[in-house]
Amino acid sequence: MPGPADAPATAPAPGAPHEEHLRDAPYLRVARGDVARGLRPQRTPVWFMRQAGRSLPEYRAVREGTTMLQSCRNPELVAEITLQPVRRYGVDAAIFYSDIVVPLEAAGVGVEIVAGTGPVIAEPVRTRADLERVPELTPDRLEHVTEAVRLSVQQLRATGTPLIGFAGAPFTLASYLVEGGPSRDLLRTKALMHADPQLWHDLAARLAQITGAFLRAQVLAGASAVQLFDSWVGSLSLADYERHVVPHSAAALRAVADLGVPRTHFGTGTGELLGAMAAVDGGVDVLGVDFRVPLDVGAARGRAGAGRPVAVQGNLDPALLSAPWQVLRGEVRRVLAAGERAGAGHVFNLGHGVPPSADPGVLARVVDEVHAWRGAEGDVPDGDARDGGE
Ligand code: CP3
Repeated sequence: MPGPADAPATAPAPGAPHEEHLRDAPYLRVARGDVARGLRPQRTPVWFMRQAGRSLPEYRAVREGTTMLQSCRNPELVAEITLQPVRRYGVDAAIFYSDIVVPLEAAGVGVEIVAGTGPVIAEPVRTRADLERVPELTPDRLEHVTEAVRLSVQQLRATGTPLIGFAGAPFTLASYLVEGGPSRDLLRTKALMHADPQLWHDLAARLAQITGAFLRAQVLAGASAVQLFDSWVGSLSLADYERHVVPHSAAALRAVADLGVPRTHFGTGTGELLGAMAAVDGGVDVLGVDFRVPLDVGAARGRAGAGRPVAVQGNLDPALLSAPWQVLRGEVRRVLAAGERAGAGHVFNLGHGVPPSADPGVLARVVDEVHAWRGAEGDVPDGDARDGGE
């Protein structure tokens, strides 16, 4: 599948020499479908959405005096923050430190992340004239991203940890552009979709170009996998999702289809949509499942949608991180057992991002618990994986 016309034509082949040291990385083995082929990784891989962020004191320290978007324009700082959770927890993947609004800003859309509010769009997009003010995203506007990915990958090399690139999906990005900021019910977005389907499709197609260019830049600079975040797509019916969203999410993922990296697709509240999400662009490699649906049920829906087995990622409820350890550990093991029953590979994660209030010590224990796990039939250690239990 050819990439965007203005992107470099050559790409690192899958398993290219620069990836040799990552050949056995558990995250990549699961994401590439090894488990479905009968090969188990040495352990269940684990990483956390928003693992680099406000829950870490070292993050708060390096961010002092800079806004989120300023920090994203500083490649050295981005690499430092990307590495922080890898150093602290020994997670099996790093996620590129950035935000879903970064590619919009890079394209030239006026956007700010206002602390305590969220993304605020200077001029919301509700008419065709508004859409004409949303430019395409060309690779020359992503040089700071390319440089930050290169630095991150270089520094991750010694740890044998792959980097996941990501982007917000066209629907979730459109919801911010149309609403002008965060919204509980997305009324304007859904009204636009139905009242002027052509304008909706043109807006979503423009956002798919922006998202695709952002993903492609990250992979060409060395990211080993990608995740498409459609955080709010669970607010749609299956019919609306298939008609108004799938073609655009598919176009975004197609921008990296020729690069041979595994692709994860995630949203929240997506129980009814999981089959369709798994099937996007001929089938994704990993289906992100939030905490509302057990992983084995999610995997069955994904398999039915994609027409082949799909690995799953998830799905501990982030709220459990503040429960007593005995309770939390029981839930971690329940998620691990469901992930095993899912049958085609499991990447342990939360059902959504790490809350800023999460205790890093608790996340460290979760990582150790996942890494110590040897299967529902295996030798589950009864004591505490990190420091002897309580
Ligand atoms: O796992 C990841 O890190 C993936 C990347 C990612 C981030 N944010 C990183 C981030 C993704 C997919 C998002 C999504 C996002 N960002 C949404 C969609 C809804 C969701 O939660 O999925 C929204 C609305 C945003 C905008 C945003 N970014 C807000 C409101 C904030 C907090 C600003 C503040 O300080 O009050 C951010 C900051 C942000 N995004 C951080 C990171 C790692 C900084 C640290 C943190 O919030 O913990």
